[in-house]
This record gives sequence, C-alpha cells and structure tokens, in this order.
Amino acid sequence: MTEPAPWVYSDTVKEHFLNPRNFLMGDESKYPHDAEGVVGNPVCGDQMKMFIQVQNDQIVDVKWKTYGCASAIASTSALSELVKGKTLDDALQVGPQEITDYLGGLPQHKFHCSVLGHEALAAAIENYRKKE
Ligand code: FES
Repeated sequence: MTEPAPWVYSDTVKEHFLNPRNFLMGDESKYPHDAEGVVGNPVCGDQMKMFIQVQNDQIVDVKWKTYGCASAIASTSALSELVKGKTLDDALQVGPQEITDYLGGLPQHKFHCSVLGHEALAAAIENYRKKE
C-alpha cells in the first residue's frame, strides 16, 4: 500500500499565510501602479489580482489581492518577495517550482495554488508591455 500524500504545511507556508508580504489592503485605486493582471484558477475557481510598479524594466514594487486559499496566499506572498528588484524577464522565470521550493514544499494536491500568483504576475507584465 502506498503512503498517502502528506497534508502538512511547512513552517514557511504557515508564516507567509499568517503574515502575507505585499498584500494589498483596501482600495486598489489608492495604490499607484503601472500595470495590473487578473487571473482565475481553472482547477478551483479562485482569483488573483496583481499590481506592479516598474522602473527601467525592473519591478520596484508589487502588491496583490486574492480570493484564494491558504496555499495561494502563501505562494503569492513568497512570489512577491522573490520578484522585487528583478527585471521583467527575470521575474517571469520565477515559476511555481521555485515558489514551492522557497516555501519548503506544498502538499502535492495544492501545487496548482502556486500557479495563480505566477500567472497573475505574467498578466500584469503583459499589461505593462502593451502600454509601452
Ligand atoms: S484551492 Fe484555489 S488556489 Fe488553492
């Protein structure tokens, strides 16, 4: 008989869920941003919205809000820390596997939650590039 997948969250996941970095509280119109992206997760229907400030092709600040689960919140919190200061191209390279590694892993059935922030960031970058 095979072992069931672990249902345990790492301490890093719990910490980012309880203290999400760069989470946008309140009215997004009060946060100055250069572009935004919105995506939905087809697996569960959750949604993510991401806002970026860009200077000289670098992400200088990022904020996000979500109707997402604990794993999506922790993953996007981690992503927001990982991409600050990166060029747009380098930020796009920060994918679900890097996010998951940074968090010390996610239960396998929650891996799809780490995709949500990544896709919202990609949508925000695409939105920014269309404005250029
Ligand atoms: S269950 Fe929807 S993003 Fe996690």
